[in-house]
Amino acid sequence: MTAGPSITRRGLLAGGATVAAGVAAGCSPEALTAPQAAAARGQGPSAAPSFAASSGTAVELFHGAHQAGVATPPQTHAVFVGLDLLPGTGREAVVRLMRLLTDDARRLTQGAPALADTEPELAALPARLTVTFGFGPGLFTAAKAEHLRPESVAPLPAFPIDRLEKRWSGGDLLVQICADDALTVAHALRMTVKDARSFARARWLQRGFRRAAHAQAPGTTQRNVMGQLDGTVNPAPGTADFDRAVWISEGADGMRGGTTLVLRRIRAELETWDAVDRVGKEFAVGRRLDTGAPLTGTREHDEPDFATLTPVGFPVIAEQAHIRRAHVTDPALRIFRRVYNYDEGLTSQGHADSGLVFASYQADIARQFLPIQKRLAEADLLNEWTTPIGSAVFAIPPGCAEGGWIGETLLS
Ligand code: HEM
Repeated sequence: MTAGPSITRRGLLAGGATVAAGVAAGCSPEALTAPQAAAARGQGPSAAPSFAASSGTAVELFHGAHQAGVATPPQTHAVFVGLDLLPGTGREAVVRLMRLLTDDARRLTQGAPALADTEPELAALPARLTVTFGFGPGLFTAAKAEHLRPESVAPLPAFPIDRLEKRWSGGDLLVQICADDALTVAHALRMTVKDARSFARARWLQRGFRRAAHAQAPGTTQRNVMGQLDGTVNPAPGTADFDRAVWISEGADGMRGGTTLVLRRIRAELETWDAVDRVGKEFAVGRRLDTGAPLTGTREHDEPDFATLTPVGFPVIAEQAHIRRAHVTDPALRIFRRVYNYDEGLTSQGHADSGLVFASYQADIARQFLPIQKRLAEADLLNEWTTPIGSAVFAIPPGCAEGGWIGETLLS
């Protein structure tokens, strides 16, 4: 028999303290690893990593000031769906759609079937499912809510490195579905797309994956398909710096507690990347492949020293190295990268069709994302082996309370 959903401690931390008492009571014994159970009995060291926190019954909280799926520790599987509203879908219809999709998300994320769920058994293992909604520029226009659109939620300027394809770009409504189980994601996707059908059609769908939830200790930086540790320098959820960089706290009320998402599909040119030796690969990024340490340090989280020179007077971290070009000193101007890999098999030439579904969250795209992207587009050694082929921007509205719906602060 399957145990009822247990709420993860990580979910609890992300969701805030208000539900602490209820959650503590609901924490199932299976959510503890053997060493933790021993520690709880006073028989072993504490602070063992909780691999079991990602078990199938683990639940991420749905309600709160922010939508889940941004600060949530990244789950193993993700699907991002960009939908276009059907012609004639106005504000009232968008409200009905968002009420419906919010209700689906609320139930499914807590391990309950959606209303009229055709496969209710598939809902039993939420596996830390989160469903996050984003509004593209077209939705604000359709709902006659242009004045509430954060100004920089607009198509990005064209960059010389772009080779954008329509089939991966744009979209009125984003649904981002993440979980530690692929079948859970498939079911949530199916319910969402079915329920949205009278209002919107899927324009694109992008699947992504990271290391499996149980493969590494939580908090370990993931590797991307190019073999690099990816995510070392990132604002840490739960810190004041993260809150400042990610959540919107200024401007019109409707978006307070929300954020923005830039989603870029970036192809990795793995065939030519394979031809580069390790020294060349490390030089391009400015970090070592094995440890992820900056070329001026020995451990992953050592501060890079951009002033260090080689004996012959060249910077150790090259002027055009990715981390030098992407580096931002003011924590309020950082972006939060929650990156997934994609791997769609082989091209007709038998080459890898792989890369990153690059998801960047920030309070303000113009102030935070664009300056970094401009510097990278101008000069970044990594550009030789990476090609942006998709681009979309969304406002991620704040979360909602029980009985509420995502988007109510903008559309009601
Ligand atoms: C396929 C494309 C890309 C790959 C393979 C890639 C890979 C990496 C790697 C390996 C690092 C160093 C480890 C880390 O701190 O995570 C890094 C850092 C970073 N990347 Fe990227 N990246 C890509 C695209 C981008 C884009 C499009 C942006 C933003 C527009 C970006 C922004 C950053 C930032 C802000 C850092 C941290 C820099 C610092 O040390 O302060 N990256 N990336």
